[in-house]
Amino acid sequence: MFVGTRGRGSNLRAIHDACSRGEVPGRVALVVGTRQDSGAIEWAREAGLPIVVVEPGEGYGPRLLDALKQASVDWICLAGYLRLLPAEVLQAFPNRVLNIHPALLPKHGGKGMYGMHVHEAVLAAGEDESGCTVHYVTEHYDEGAPILQMRCPVFPGDTPESLAARVLVLEHQAYPEALRRVLH
Ligand code: GRF
Repeated sequence: MFVGTRGRGSNLRAIHDACSRGEVPGRVALVVGTRQDSGAIEWAREAGLPIVVVEPGEGYGPRLLDALKQASVDWICLAGYLRLLPAEVLQAFPNRVLNIHPALLPKHGGKGMYGMHVHEAVLAAGEDESGCTVHYVTEHYDEGAPILQMRCPVFPGDTPESLAARVLVLEHQAYPEALRRVLH
């Protein structure tokens, strides 16, 4: 399993911990980042996980594929990965790439909908619930089939930050649970 991220790595940590406890039948075979200085990469280094940093640019797809093959990766989990995966990577892992989105797709997804933008949109729309969605990844942002969703209330007086914190707790349960469902 590979976790592609440039975020703080809290979902990576939740997945790794669930694997270590035997709750997910897999292991994090490689952590792939787009930059050395992300929180996720720093945490992975401290945890002793195999890491590779593949910077986007010329030959990004083939370089990524090469790293994934060398680590014998068979599933890809994205968390906080803000770009579209190169087509050759999607083709090499058909229906084996997952992402987590911090809202109830198909609402509040798509290009530019990441981080606090998502929670701001949920509040601006006056939703009374939000949550997270683990879904298969396609060549379009946030459009693949959902694997599971978890829900939480939106409270009057919520800020994007308070809502994000509530959703993040769910994310850490949802990603391992989605992996349990697909890895059998
Ligand atoms: C999560 O909120 C996830 O839903 C979104 O990016 C964030 C990554 O957070 N796609 P982390 O790096 O896993 O802490």
